Amino acid sequence: MVRQRTLLLISLLCLATLWSCRLPKMCLYSQCREDVTAPSPQSVDLSRADSPFISWPLERVCRETTTWHPGVTFVCDNNSGGIGNIRNYILTCLRYAIEAGVTAIVLPEIRTRADDNLASIMNPHRPFTYFFDEAHFRRALRISCPQITIYSTTDDIPHAPVPFKAEEFTPRNLGSRGGCDRRDLNRHTDRFGKQFVSLLERTATEYHLPAPSTEHPRIFRFTWGVQWDIPVFRDGPEFVATFGGILKFRDDILDLGRRVTKHMRGLAGKHASSSFAGMHLRTENDALSAWPRYENQSRAYLSRAADMGFRVAYLATGNRTEADKLAGSARAEYGGMEVVTKHQVLKNYKEDLEVLEALTWDQQALVDFVALLESDYFFGVSPSSFSMNVALKRHLKTGGLYTRPWKIGGDGDGYSWLVGRYEKYWDDWLFMYDSLWP
Ligand SMILES: *[C@@H]1O[C@H](CO)[C@@H](O)[C@H](O)[C@H]1NC(C)=O
Ligand SMILES: *[C@@H]1O[C@H](CO)[C@@H](O)[C@H](O)[C@H]1NC(C)=O
Ligand SMILES: *[C@@H]1O[C@H](CO)[C@@H](O)[C@H](O)[C@H]1NC(C)=O
Repeated sequence: MVRQRTLLLISLLCLATLWSCRLPKMCLYSQCREDVTAPSPQSVDLSRADSPFISWPLERVCRETTTWHPGVTFVCDNNSGGIGNIRNYILTCLRYAIEAGVTAIVLPEIRTRADDNLASIMNPHRPFTYFFDEAHFRRALRISCPQITIYSTTDDIPHAPVPFKAEEFTPRNLGSRGGCDRRDLNRHTDRFGKQFVSLLERTATEYHLPAPSTEHPRIFRFTWGVQWDIPVFRDGPEFVATFGGILKFRDDILDLGRRVTKHMRGLAGKHASSSFAGMHLRTENDALSAWPRYENQSRAYLSRAADMGFRVAYLATGNRTEADKLAGSARAEYGGMEVVTKHQVLKNYKEDLEVLEALTWDQQALVDFVALLESDYFFGVSPSSFSMNVALKRHLKTGGLYTRPWKIGGDGDGYSWLVGRYEKYWDDWLFMYDSLWP
């Protein structure tokens, strides 16, 4: 009898154990651990150029803004430079727009660079679609922040002044930052909404303006270069990991990037492995003199890549002369390592090559961006915002939605390594890492 009871008790216990394993929250036993961690947000791969846009973190941030101001509009076009700068400029402007509670933005335009002088970055604007997928941006903002309308151009803002004119301001000037380096991030982003309302009121009194409304819009544009401004992790890792997904590259550029990647895999396959390294050589003539030079970059990349066993590498650079130089030294000094650029990968694919060559210098860099995200290890250079952006986006492989900040100056994440100086927070531009959304 006693034995039977014991048996019954044991069976019941076993059943309970089995049952509790089906319900992750009730798990008390080590054998259940898989149930607890299996379908985690860590498993979402957000590191690719075509990763899905996850909207709830942005939705949450927009819900946290409780006062929205009708008739107040931001124009996010005082940007410049390559994709790293342009992306972060637009994201910064949008993040400020949400905090300010503006009810409209103008679809951001992109300022271009001169073809014959890469350092000349203040040329006429091109539309949003110069780089990005407009339908995706509109859809993503509509589902996450329905409070914000997107006007196609400044002409579409109802009752805008003719000729068009916007009020200009610098967000970080709204809060006192006594004693800081002028490059310091805005330490008052939590209070930006309140400060912006004060600005609205102060200037309304000063210029005798009615309260803003659709009939009496107030339209604002930032001064140039508001792009390394917001301490991004204050919004939580989920926001950092997903916000950048609102800016997806246009489809034809994504396609070309994917085809380049596929051809790279094919090329690597000839060396009995399908893996290839990605390298970003930033030595074009507009690179700043304090940055690591050709020798610093090329030597570091090639010796590390060789040590890691790579036989093939994809090289992103806008400088063909130096691309040849690097490929030459890879062949001669690093056991015949094959290093190719996007033009060389596409050499035997005439149609793709034509598509590539029809793009401008900065658009072609987007193809590099896609391919570098797909490479098996990435070598870049700090403080190029392009390299940083690629490395931080690849870093999302480490934790998905809950990715912790990249450790500046290390190679600890196992996906990327950036050569550079990491001693001075300001002069080595390390503040960029704290204000960049991947
Ligand atoms: C951009 O910013 C600069 C100064 O930072 C300012 O002079 C200019 O008027 C702004 N607006 C445009 C459209 O460039
Ligand atoms: C490429 O690099 C060389 C130095 O090797 C430099 O003289 C040239 O101006 C650069 N070209 C571009 C397009 O950046
Ligand atoms: C580049 O290499 C030279 C020589 O090895 C070194 O003195 C210099 O500090 C390096 N510069 C950077 C920015 O790493």
